[in-house]
This record gives sequence, C-alpha cells and structure tokens, in this order.
Amino acid sequence: MKQTTLYERLGGYDGIAGFVDSFFSRVQADQQIGRFWQHRGDDGLIREKRITVDYLSLAMGGPVHYTDRDLRTTHKGMGISASDWSVFLGHAAQTMEALGLPQQEYQEVYALLGNLEGDIVEE
Ligand code: HEM
Repeated sequence: MKQTTLYERLGGYDGIAGFVDSFFSRVQADQQIGRFWQHRGDDGLIREKRITVDYLSLAMGGPVHYTDRDLRTTHKGMGISASDWSVFLGHAAQTMEALGLPQQEYQEVYALLGNLEGDIVEE
C-alpha cells in the first residue's frame, strides 16, 4: 500500500497554511517570545508565513520547491534561547490540540519541529 505523506495527511498546502496561521497568531501574542515579532509590518509577516508554509510543505513530503534561505541563516543573530524555543514548541502543541490533529500526525509534526532546534537556538 502506498504510504501517504505527512503533507497529505495534514490536508496539503491549505492544511499546513491553516496550521501556520493559527500557530503564528499564538506565538506573536505570547508574553515571552512575542517580542521577536514586534514592530514588523503586515507584509513581512505574510511573507514569513508563506516561506514557513513552503519550508514545512517540503519537509513533510509535499510537492514544493523551497528556494529560500536556510533556517540557520534566517534566524542568525536573533539570540533565540532554549527557553524561547520551548515556549515556541509549547504553542505548536497547543495549536495541534486545538485543531484536533490525530496522535500520529501530532507526534510527527512535533518531532519535525523539534529537530530544527539546532538551526534556530543560539543561546
Ligand atoms: C523560537 C522560535 C522562532 C522564533 C522566535 C522565530 C522568529 C522569527 C522572526 C522574528 C523572523 C523574521 C526575521 C526578519 O525578517 O527580520 C523569522 C523568520 C523566519 N522564520 Fe522563524 N522563528 C522561530 C522558529 C522558526 C521555525 C521552527 C521555522 C520553520 C519551521 C521558522 C521559519 C522562518 C522563516 C522561513 C523565516 C524567513 C522569512 C523571510 O525570509 O521573510 N522559524 N523567524
């Protein structure tokens, strides 16, 4: 039997865009890590979301070409700490719970995001 990709199981590009939209609203409203997005305009946020959706779509097995910069480059110099990272992952978990993601997909997304820590956390 053909194995379906995580991309397909999340509802494809639209499903991942919905997840990112809800997830970003949560992190931007967060007391500790919301500061990273302060004073950014709407256009920059939309762009960041679109690029993140592309990145995740490819990482989840979707038919997407990711041509943007790598995550280490895009976050270098922000000083994101291990504590910021755990708050960020907590919002990912809450977003997935709110969306009612099944346990299998929840775990796969959580593991995928968790693996990115080394590219993002600097302090
Ligand atoms: C604690 C974790 C994170 C924080 C605080 C954070 C914060 C930010 C901020 C503030 C920017 C905008 C930089 C700028 O244009 O000046 C950015 C860019 C970006 N972030 Fe994150 N990020 C985090 C984790 C992630 C993760 C896990 C991903 C991917 C799944 C991601 C994907 C991106 C991408 C693709 C960009 C580049 C957008 C662009 O080029 O306009 N970020 N991040």
